[in-house]
Amino acid sequence: MHEEAPAWVVDPGTPSVARMYDYYLGGKDNFAADREAAQKIISILPNAREVARTNRAFLVRAVRHLARSGVRQFLDIGTGLPTQENVHQVAQAEAPQARVVYVDNDPIVLAHARALLADNPRSVVVEGDLREPESVLGHPEVLAHLDLTRPIALIMLAVLHFVTDDAEAADVVGAFRKPLAPGSHLVLSHITHGDLDDDAVRRGRDVYTATTAGGIVPRTAARVRSFFDGLDVLEPGVVPLHLWRPDPAQRRWDGMPGGAIIGGVGRVT
Ligand SMILES: C[S@@+](CC[C@H](N)C(=O)[O-])C[C@H]1O[C@@H](n2cnc3c(N)ncnc32)[C@H](O)[C@@H]1O
Repeated sequence: MHEEAPAWVVDPGTPSVARMYDYYLGGKDNFAADREAAQKIISILPNAREVARTNRAFLVRAVRHLARSGVRQFLDIGTGLPTQENVHQVAQAEAPQARVVYVDNDPIVLAHARALLADNPRSVVVEGDLREPESVLGHPEVLAHLDLTRPIALIMLAVLHFVTDDAEAADVVGAFRKPLAPGSHLVLSHITHGDLDDDAVRRGRDVYTATTAGGIVPRTAARVRSFFDGLDVLEPGVVPLHLWRPDPAQRRWDGMPGGAIIGGVGRVT
C-alpha cells in the first residue's frame, strides 16, 4: 500500500486495528499513524509481534485440523489484512472444495481481500460488523456461499476483544453460535492480561481507544472460556495459543512474558 491511498477509502490519520496488526506481522499495508500506535503498544508489550504471530500460527493449525476432520465451510469474522496462509489457502490446501466467507468492517481489508480472492470462486469477502450478527448471518452473499444447515467453522480470532462490553460480547458470540448445525466448530482467540500490570493495561487500552475499533479489552481466561459454554471443547482446551496442539516443527516458545493470547476450538454437538 502507498501513503497516497485515496482518502474516501480510508482515513490514514486514524490508526486501524487491521493495519496495526499487519505491522506487528511485518506487513507493508500500514500508514505512519498505524505504525506509531503499534510502536506505542510494542513499548508497553514488547512481545506484541510474537503474540500476533502466535495467533496466526494457531489459525493455521486449527483450520488445518478442521479441514482434515471434514469441515468444508469456513466463516471468518474479523479477517484482517491478507498475510501468509490465509484461511482459504490453509483449508483449500487440505480440501480444494472448501468454501470460505471472510467478513470485516475495514475498507482496506475488504479491498485487499477482494483482490486476493478475485480468481478464487470458493472464497468471498463481505463487508460486515461483528456487532451485528444477524446482518452478517442474513447477508445474501453469506447465505449464497455457505449452507448453514451443514457444519461450518465459525472463526473469531483476535477480534472479540474489540467488543469492550462483556454482555455485548457474550450476546455476539451467542447470536453467531445460534444457527450453527451440529458438527460446526467455534474457533476463537482473545487477549488476556498476561503479565501486564494494571497501569500497562490502561496505557495499552488508551492506545486502542484512539483507533478505528474505538477500544479493546483483555478478558480473563474464565471469561474467554465462557464463550465456549455448551460446546465440546477439543483438547487441550482453551489455552495459551502456543500450547494448542503445537507443531513439532515450530520454534518452541516457553510462555509469553508481557502479554498473552488464549483460545481454542469448540464443537457443536
Ligand atoms: C487483530 S485483527 C485479527 C485478524 C485475524 N482474525 C487474525 O486473527 O489473524 C482484527 C480484525 O478484526 C476486524 N474488526 C475489528 N472490529 C470489527 C468489527 N466490529 N466487525 C468486523 N471486523 C472487525 C479488523 O478490521 C481487523 O481486520
